[in-house]
Amino acid sequence: MDKKISAIIETDRLLLRTATFQDTQSIYQLYSLPESSHYEYWEPIDLAKANRLVRRWVRNQQKHPCSAYHFVVFLKAKELMIGMCGLEIGFNPSEAGQIGHVGYRYFPESWGNGYATEALSSVVEFAFSQLSLHKVESGCVRENSASARVLEKSGFRLEGCRRQGFLIGQKWHDFMVYGILRKDIKPIQT
Ligand SMILES: CC(C)(COP(=O)(O)OP(=O)(O)OC[C@H]1O[C@@H](n2cnc3c(N)ncnc32)[C@H](O)[C@@H]1OP(=O)(O)O)[C@@H](O)C(=O)NCCC(=O)NCCS
Repeated sequence: MDKKISAIIETDRLLLRTATFQDTQSIYQLYSLPESSHYEYWEPIDLAKANRLVRRWVRNQQKHPCSAYHFVVFLKAKELMIGMCGLEIGFNPSEAGQIGHVGYRYFPESWGNGYATEALSSVVEFAFSQLSLHKVESGCVRENSASARVLEKSGFRLEGCRRQGFLIGQKWHDFMVYGILRKDIKPIQT
């Protein structure tokens, strides 16, 4: 049984809550879709891998301090799971546990409605207001224009390009690095 399930975030249209073992089947469905793995370094996964993934996520969410939050994103009106948005906190000495890294993926049927942006913005707000992080980073391969747009709409700035820094299958891709600082978000500055 899950020991401690912590974070819940609510937005106008969405409910985000940290993943539990009960979500494994839906997470498997999402992560086994070729469309949702198109610009990722990993292949669509099988059920055994989904089980391992969710076990790791739940374990991380039980740590003190929590090293990663993997939010399952629901459409409130339909009580429907539409995707995932994860926030992992880097504990490299240079990051001092104060830099988060976000990633996300959604079922194709939900694309184009602003849900990824709405969820990401709320996770960024959570990272700054609840976790007092200093910075949140993310990125995508150059070809992933939809993801770049989600980051830009959520307030991230393009910080650079890791040229040919991301291997998908046999092909190297440019990786666009994005970041947002707590001080970039005005209301939280006070
Ligand atoms: C990337 C992804 C999360 C976007 O989800 P979404 O819910 O459609 O995102 P939103 O609706 O909030 O915003 C998408 C934006 O990208 C734009 N867009 C979509 N496809 C695009 C394309 N091919 N080229 C340029 N812009 C594109 C949309 O028009 C929209 O911008 P707008 O509001 O200015 O019109 C979704 O496509 C996905 O899950 N993809 C697979 C997984 C993935 O790539 N994850 C990111 C890994 S870095």
